Amino acid sequence: MKKSSLLDGVRDQVLKVPAYTLRAYDAEIKLNQNENPYDFPAELKDEILRRYRERSWSRYPEFVPDSLRERLASFAGWTRDGILVGNGSNELLQASLMILVRDRISVAIPSPTFAVYSLISRVLGGRIVEIPLNADMSYDVDELIARSEETGARLLIICTPNNPTGSVLEDGDLRRILDSFSGYVLLDEAYYEFCGSSGLKYLEKYPRVIITRTFSKAMGMAGLRVGYLMAHPELVTQITKAKLPYSVNQFSLIAAQVALDNLDRFRASVDAILQERGRLREELEKIPGVRVYPTGANFFLFSIPSHPRPVFDYLYDRGVLVRDVSSYPMLSQCLRVSVGTPAEDDRFIATLRAALAETAAAPAGTRGA
Ligand SMILES: Cc1ncc(COP(=O)(O)O)c(C=O)c1O
Repeated sequence: MKKSSLLDGVRDQVLKVPAYTLRAYDAEIKLNQNENPYDFPAELKDEILRRYRERSWSRYPEFVPDSLRERLASFAGWTRDGILVGNGSNELLQASLMILVRDRISVAIPSPTFAVYSLISRVLGGRIVEIPLNADMSYDVDELIARSEETGARLLIICTPNNPTGSVLEDGDLRRILDSFSGYVLLDEAYYEFCGSSGLKYLEKYPRVIITRTFSKAMGMAGLRVGYLMAHPELVTQITKAKLPYSVNQFSLIAAQVALDNLDRFRASVDAILQERGRLREELEKIPGVRVYPTGANFFLFSIPSHPRPVFDYLYDRGVLVRDVSSYPMLSQCLRVSVGTPAEDDRFIATLRAALAETAAAPAGTRGA
């Protein structure tokens, strides 16, 4: 009898997808994942624990968390039935793709962007149509429209502000896309609170728009995994079929409620990050050879004159962790840094200056010798 190989039942398209890996770096100053540098306020943590302790842990959470959806509806300005809460926005991106993408369906994705879209689309058998950003990292709107239409893409995914570049799709450009493209448009607004502009106002007129947002960034809850999706209620009914029931645990549901009950606290932390973002940009721009790209998010993409890896290593060796994005298309000279606290950013800037001076002085290949 023929001996079967361990992987011969795995679909071909899955085998072809490179694994998405992220090395678990540990560092004193962590500026690599666009997280909020300000932890969730301690007294609000106490409030979450208090409410959580009162509940029976042996019971499932609500099947549909209506009270949270209600709060989100009034916070965001969209109808409750058009809101789906998930285990991070990643789960909602996955559920949306699951109902739209299958073998040979084209998915249009600007490039470079967040890697999860093409990863999941490819696992589902979809064909990725990559549409490069302009050299200044802005969206090439004419190309987005033309290529999405000519390839018959079922779905166009736009991340705005875009990770890892920070680029924002202007309102008029989004409008132009929605007027021209007949497929679904998924807007990933994970960094929405740092730029304020949203596609939400178009949901009513263009019912093929899906918006995802997260509590991981502005709300400082990356560890608790809560995201939400807004779309036409009929579409939400379909997307819900692809999401696991009870995927958001009781603790995280309570935490999201508490966050929404205390929005002023989070607005203050977003304001502090925005102020620091302005200062960090000025400091980065003072460094010779560094080019900083425009951002609408809580991070910067910047290029340096030499290869980024030795600079990344130099920073990391001194306790400062940024993201080496040089393997992304168009970003071979680039690093990405989250906006930290003023003290963290001071240390980052000083270390980056030293890194650039040292790596420029050292002949190639001598590092670590
Ligand atoms: C653009 C974008 N979308 C989605 C996510 C995932 O966020 P969540 O923590 O809500 O799953 C991230 C996380 O970094 C992101 O950058």
